[in-house]
Amino acid sequence: MEASIHLLPLLVGLFLIFSPPAGPCDSRDKAALLNIKAAFSNSGEFSSWTNDTNCCGWKGVSCNQLLGRVEVLSFDNKGGPLEGLSGPLPDALGDLPFLISLLFRNHPGIVGPLPSALTRLRLLGFLTLRQTSLSGSIPPFLSQIRYLKLLDLSFNKFSGDVPVEFGAADLMTVDLSHNKLSGGANALFGANKTLRSLDLSFNMFEFDLSPINFPANLTKLILNDNKITGSIPVQINQLTSLVEFNISNNQLCGVIPAGPVTDKFDDTHFIGNKCLCRSQDSCS
Ligand SMILES: *[C@@H]1O[C@H](CO)[C@@H](O)[C@H](O)[C@H]1NC(C)=O
Ligand SMILES: *[C@@H]1O[C@H](CO)[C@@H](O)[C@H](O)[C@H]1NC(C)=O
Ligand SMILES: *[C@@H]1O[C@H](CO)[C@@H](O)[C@H](O)[C@H]1NC(C)=O
Ligand SMILES: *[C@@H]1O[C@H](CO)[C@@H](O)[C@H](O)[C@H]1NC(C)=O
Repeated sequence: MEASIHLLPLLVGLFLIFSPPAGPCDSRDKAALLNIKAAFSNSGEFSSWTNDTNCCGWKGVSCNQLLGRVEVLSFDNKGGPLEGLSGPLPDALGDLPFLISLLFRNHPGIVGPLPSALTRLRLLGFLTLRQTSLSGSIPPFLSQIRYLKLLDLSFNKFSGDVPVEFGAADLMTVDLSHNKLSGGANALFGANKTLRSLDLSFNMFEFDLSPINFPANLTKLILNDNKITGSIPVQINQLTSLVEFNISNNQLCGVIPAGPVTDKFDDTHFIGNKCLCRSQDSCS
């Protein structure tokens, strides 16, 4: 009996810490979310976002249970017949300082450049802006988001090259496929890079592959349907973790360096190049 009385405060404390209904959402985060809602203003996506309710329960919002701060904001229109959101990405997105993951998927009405307000998201680890109509260049400021691990800007209208500033970034997954990117992507390469997954397919990248050192731990390297020139570096055979690979439909030439990695992938991974061949004999 006495023991259980002593345990009571502890149990109450544990209950407060671990009980699932979060404390009310932080008022600053709520204000930021309402500003985001106001900026888009045109969608049923926000029907649960009302000022008199806990914002941690709003559709697409997840909070840190202890702090009541917004950690995940997800507008995933993946399966939907929903028309989706439209307009530019509002600066208010930068007013959620505890955000770890931000996702917009399949909102073709979202247009304009990436706002620099995103750099205020100092804890952001995962940025997915996929199947929207965002345009402009990939801004150098994205590389300043220190903990960013995943950058998915696929199926947009981005143009220009990958800025050199990304040479200092520490990304694990990059998907820039299906854009209008051109020029170089060298900043993403280098044997010491932590990059594991890279998809640059269906762009107009036009760089020389010959001098490139691939990140040593790549598991996925998808470069098909670009205008990449040069030849395939011998170093590719050091990528022992590589399981997904395609370099088709580029302007590559020369002998595919034989080795444990290139031997794993049949010709369907190399088709549609200028003059690639498996051995000097088959090169004409
Ligand atoms: C939300 O409610 C608070 C407190 O009642 C109020 O101060 C604030 O102006 C309201 N915000 C909006 C956007 O209605
Ligand atoms: C890669 O890292 C090793 C060990 O930290 C270092 O000696 C080497 O210079 C680095 N190479 C490049 C190209 O940065
Ligand atoms: C590659 O993976 C190995 C084993 O997990 C690890 O020790 C090494 O630091 C990684 N290299 C890079 C550049 O991330
Ligand atoms: C590689 O890409 C080409 C061109 O898009 C495609 O036809 C081919 O099926 C792909 N190969 C593999 C193995 O996915």
